[in-house]
Amino acid sequence: MPDFQNDLILITCASGKQSAALIPHILKSYKKIRLQCNSSASAESLRQKYPNTEVVQADLFSASDCSRIIADVTACWLVLPPFHPHETSLGTTFIDACIAQKDSQGPLQHVVYSSVIHPILQKLLNHDCKRYVEEYLIESGLDYTILQPTHMMEMLPIAHLMQQENPTHLCNWNPTTKFSFVTTRDVGEAGARVLEQRQKHIAATYQLVSTKSPLSYTEACEIVSKVLGKEVKAQQKGFEDAVNTSIKMINGGKEPPKAMKEIGSRMFLYYNERGLIGNSNVLGWLLEREPTSYEQWAKMKVEEIGSASK
Ligand SMILES: NC(=O)c1ccc[n+]([C@@H]2O[C@H](COP(=O)([O-])OP(=O)(O)OC[C@H]3O[C@@H](n4cnc5c(N)ncnc54)[C@H](OP(=O)(O)O)[C@@H]3O)[C@@H](O)[C@H]2O)c1
Repeated sequence: MPDFQNDLILITCASGKQSAALIPHILKSYKKIRLQCNSSASAESLRQKYPNTEVVQADLFSASDCSRIIADVTACWLVLPPFHPHETSLGTTFIDACIAQKDSQGPLQHVVYSSVIHPILQKLLNHDCKRYVEEYLIESGLDYTILQPTHMMEMLPIAHLMQQENPTHLCNWNPTTKFSFVTTRDVGEAGARVLEQRQKHIAATYQLVSTKSPLSYTEACEIVSKVLGKEVKAQQKGFEDAVNTSIKMINGGKEPPKAMKEIGSRMFLYYNERGLIGNSNVLGWLLEREPTSYEQWAKMKVEEIGSASK
């Protein structure tokens, strides 16, 4: 049984999309929370936003940083940074630190790893690298739960589209390819349930999909058009342009290393042909409600952006 007063919960990649959606739930249940980020800028903003938490900076590629942030932790939420050229090593290094903490009579009881849908897809390097992390975690002897979110609705830059008079979403792949989408709203709530109910979810792997039927970006933009009351077009960017601009943006505006560009370009090629398809049954069961539809998400997002600008 979790001890909500005394258990220390570690949230990794706390400044990222998924953890940002998880933290508000966890703050309501657990009293002791450690938030990890990498940069000083994110550390500063997390300290301002969540003054009653402990904020730590760490590079998950560093074994000593992993040992430092897992010290005294009872349960942790593990997200790995996107398109990191050594993502598998980051995951296994972190799991080694978890094993060492537990072996030295530490309090660790639960590792929740937010992986990705279909980590078995070998052609997608950013999925394939997570398959080995999952394997390492499953064989680690630690109590774990694996969550497998699909492509996130938040990848559509809705605030930017709202500002444009004649909005066009420039897609990094063929906009008619179908995807199953999830929103971080559902990922955060599902993650919180798993962390709060702990024992019920030990050794489980859950696919996280919000949309009932697959949608293309063209169809997603049609939904957003209705919500915004103006037509949003979906248009494909050239491949070189997609690789050069999008991966640079993910790398914080800096020129990305070659290996990072390769991960992104393979993903764009794969998405161009195949998309990503999953099923929303498990997420509905986990949340005990209907997962968020694309239209609900778009409406919520527009309201949120509207009230933030007032
Ligand atoms: N986008 C999708 O559709 C999707 C779908 C399924 C799964 N995923 C997976 O989700 C993961 C990313 O999660 P997210 O989207 O929530 O994150 P995100 O919004 O992309 O944020 C990245 C996070 O990684 C941290 N970070 C960067 N380098 C780091 C390092 N060396 N050590 C420790 N932390 C580091 C950043 O900290 P600072 O802010 O301090 O730099 C930030 O918190 C990836 O593994 C991705 O494959 C994404």
